[in-house]
Amino acid sequence: MKNIVTTYLKERYPLTKVGSTKETYHITLTSETLEFKPGDSLGIYAQNDPGLVEHLIEALGATGEESITDTRSGQLFSLRAFLTHKANLSRLTSALLKLIYECDLDHQEKNRLSHLLDRENQGELKHYLDSHDPLDLFKEYRQARPPLQEICSKFGPLLPRFYSVASSLLVHPGKVDLTVALFTYTHSGERRYGVASHFLCHLAEESTPIPVYVQPAHRFALPTERDAPIVMIGPGTGIAPFRAFMQERVFHGSKGKNWLFFGERNQAYDYLYGEFWKELAEKNLLHLSLAFSRDQEHKIYVQDRMREAGADLWAWLQEGALFYICGDASHMARDVEHAMIEIFQVHGSMSEEEAKTLFKHLKKEGRYLTDVY
Ligand SMILES: Cc1cc2nc3c(=O)[nH]c(=O)nc-3n(C[C@H](O)[C@H](O)[C@H](O)COP(=O)(O)OP(=O)(O)OC[C@H]3O[C@@H](n4cnc5c(N)ncnc54)[C@H](O)[C@@H]3O)c2cc1C
Ligand SMILES: NC(=O)c1ccc[n+]([C@@H]2O[C@H](COP(=O)([O-])OP(=O)(O)OC[C@H]3O[C@@H](n4cnc5c(N)ncnc54)[C@H](OP(=O)(O)O)[C@@H]3O)[C@@H](O)[C@H]2O)c1
Repeated sequence: MKNIVTTYLKERYPLTKVGSTKETYHITLTSETLEFKPGDSLGIYAQNDPGLVEHLIEALGATGEESITDTRSGQLFSLRAFLTHKANLSRLTSALLKLIYECDLDHQEKNRLSHLLDRENQGELKHYLDSHDPLDLFKEYRQARPPLQEICSKFGPLLPRFYSVASSLLVHPGKVDLTVALFTYTHSGERRYGVASHFLCHLAEESTPIPVYVQPAHRFALPTERDAPIVMIGPGTGIAPFRAFMQERVFHGSKGKNWLFFGERNQAYDYLYGEFWKELAEKNLLHLSLAFSRDQEHKIYVQDRMREAGADLWAWLQEGALFYICGDASHMARDVEHAMIEIFQVHGSMSEEEAKTLFKHLKKEGRYLTDVY
């Protein structure tokens, strides 16, 4: 059972500087009751953009005050509140398309939808659903007017999004910091934003209630043995949990060595929490390896820095270091895994087979931990 807590926005500022090719924000939420540990994530219930909601209400020929029952929870909402809090407005479902098809349409429109919904044309249907959103559909078939309740029950649900906690409660009681990258994409030639990142980075105000719950990390947590060395690999927003880790290690006066591999596009614009890392490194509390991918002609990534430092990483491993990897799951995590296996081969004089076995063993032992998305 999720323990949902209402938080409020306390602070928001960009971590990326003017001139950056992306937007990543530091977000602070407040709550007196939220309890979490470094490594945990927050599940956040975001709201859809009010501009988009109003466009939809208009396209549906409604006022927004109409009563809607959320068929998933049985709760009653106004149409405006339902579209704001409960409906996935980014994705068109085939159920919505079918509902429009069942309306009174002219011959040509009926044929078009019948063609798309024909089992033989699944490829075309997928293409249509991927390239249109619900607003496009209601604008295209303005004269189709199924009951609002039926329309609302055919939307997908607006699901919570997860963000790694980027602060320690021991250092910042009553608060939780997040590191949020704004997602953007192009739809019908227009720039669009990801729902939750847009909500957190642009829309939420200090008075906006933000329901959240803690998604415990289980394994992706600081070692119980406080003085164990740790190696943290976190390009992009993958940095978030490591800020929390380091706040907590410093708070406890942990004697364990810390090594951070951080990567972003450009050092001048995208060095997330750069001052914090610099200060820790100057106090000899952190070993720091940086990979700014777009500061030179060829890409340099965290795994390149790991290979360069392979002998030292191997030595840290022998000293019992735990490895933590956070951030992009699609390529980074796999590439870092390959780099680790190569380091074992080169610096541990192992065959590929032996290196892979060691890697598997480290994972099983909880010494190679990932939080990737
Ligand atoms: C455990 C975990 C921890 C995480 N930690 C962090 C973190 O610390 N920081 C962080 O920034 N993120 C983190 N994430 C990712 C985060 O949860 C979200 O997935 C991310 O912010 C995008 O959510 P969104 O609602 O902004 O975008 P969404 O609305 O979910 O959209 C995401 C993408 O889907 C595509 N898309 C959506 N709708 C359309 C459409 N109509 N047409 C075409 N393409 C479309 C686009 O590519 C878009 O950019 C984490 C994820 C997990 C699972
Ligand atoms: N749709 C969007 O608007 C958008 C924008 C950014 C990120 N994302 C996604 O959002 C998530 C988090 O993004 P983020 O902002 O934290 O940053 P990110 O996209 O993960 O990038 C952080 C750094 O990692 C580098 N990188 C790219 N491929 C890599 C690889 N295979 N191995 C190691 N490093 C690699 C990037 O370099 P280069 O970029 O120079 O290659 C950049 O320097 C990721 O899942 C990403 O896919 C989406």
